[in-house]
Amino acid sequence: MNIQFDEKNLLADLVGKSHGITRSEIERSRPKALRALKSFRKLSERGLYGFPHLPFQENVIQSIRAYAREVRGAYDTVCVVGIGGSALGAWALDCGIRGPHPVQGAFSPEHPRLVILDNVDPSFTQAALASMDPRQTLVVVIAKSGGTAETVSTFLIVHDWLERELGRKAARRIVAVTTEGKGDLFALAQAEGFLTFGIPENVGGRFSVLSPAGLAPAALIGIDIRKLARGAAEMTHLCWQPDLGENIALRAALCHWLIWTRRNKTIQVAFPYSNHLWGTAFWFRQLWAESLGKAHNRAGGLVNVGQTPIAALGTTDQHSQVQLYIEGPNDKVFTFWAVNKFSSQGKIPKRRFGQPAFDALAGQSLAKLIDAERRSTAAAMVEYGRPNCTVTLDRVDETHLGGFLQMMEFQTAFMGELLDINAFDQEGVELGKKLTYGLMGRKGFEKYARQFAAYERKRKAAR
Ligand code: PA5
Repeated sequence: MNIQFDEKNLLADLVGKSHGITRSEIERSRPKALRALKSFRKLSERGLYGFPHLPFQENVIQSIRAYAREVRGAYDTVCVVGIGGSALGAWALDCGIRGPHPVQGAFSPEHPRLVILDNVDPSFTQAALASMDPRQTLVVVIAKSGGTAETVSTFLIVHDWLERELGRKAARRIVAVTTEGKGDLFALAQAEGFLTFGIPENVGGRFSVLSPAGLAPAALIGIDIRKLARGAAEMTHLCWQPDLGENIALRAALCHWLIWTRRNKTIQVAFPYSNHLWGTAFWFRQLWAESLGKAHNRAGGLVNVGQTPIAALGTTDQHSQVQLYIEGPNDKVFTFWAVNKFSSQGKIPKRRFGQPAFDALAGQSLAKLIDAERRSTAAAMVEYGRPNCTVTLDRVDETHLGGFLQMMEFQTAFMGELLDINAFDQEGVELGKKLTYGLMGRKGFEKYARQFAAYERKRKAAR
């Protein structure tokens, strides 16, 4: 596996003192980074945080693979019902390995289609159901908590759709992924006899891509999850090293922490130059936003900290966003995601038409062009004093993707330590969820229905 992090374009020597960091700042902060590594390692070894252990859970990986082998060929579609961390990991893996929609690798009994029902847009749900055949569909319902409103309601619809066609046999077409022994989904799965894979208690949704939440759908659509785990295991080993040369996640966390907190870059643009990494950019957006956007630090002080992640696609968004990035407010740091080897070179035919713009590119390749465009955008950003850095994956295969996802999770965890916040909770989304239950009339949530009514009164009174 070959994944590199290049921080040079974050340096003051390139983008100027006001917007760039210095080698001596990095050096002076090295002890802080090492303390972050040590404290996160301690918490992980105490079993508080589980994602670093996931790539080593051979039994889980084997049982998922065995099930995928057993049912292979019996369906042409895998339908995931889940949201947030219970959907984005599957999307990142599908998009990464099978390719982006609508140009995914051909579907076959070994590689069925993946449909993800995350949002509760009724038109979307209806159209998705109409596009699937219940006799050919395997449903994977995923919820760490077992009670998320979107997942529960969509699952009720999908379950009914299956049952109307298959009767009592529907249960055999449903796999539940949830916290073992806890929550309403687990209880339902037990009662109805759904096959269940467990998400460890100490693995939060956005850190669960290498748990059954990501691995089960991935294996069922024919992705080699052993290779994913192998890449992630290799990266985990690197992420425990104290040497910042080897530990790219810690070095990246430290550089991002400096540029964010010392140079006030409050927005980070994740900028993959690969359509295969587009799903990963959205997965990363959730990971970074939900983990690091926090009201309080660990001591309980009010900090309201956070760096807004944006997903942009190279080269497409050069023609949409880069004008803003280069001339607009200098409040962003850019992380390019580069790929060395594409699965095809995209050879451009040699045909000359006698038109300069066409003849200049004839005989070259799209691989060369996308690389030139990324490097030119980075150079232009440097010219305009816009700090940027690059993570390079040798290629987008299972091993590299597994390693990259694990690197991003470690980087996020280290950043949480550097900021002295809890990167693993999400208090901020709880109130909205409770108010929704209040509005939907759930028993026990009457207090939230009243709170919502008070808000409505306030709106009415406001002029
Ligand atoms: O990271 C998280 O914990 C959240 O974003 C969850 O993934 C999201 O809310 C979905 O939760 P659940 O898996 O319980 O349905």
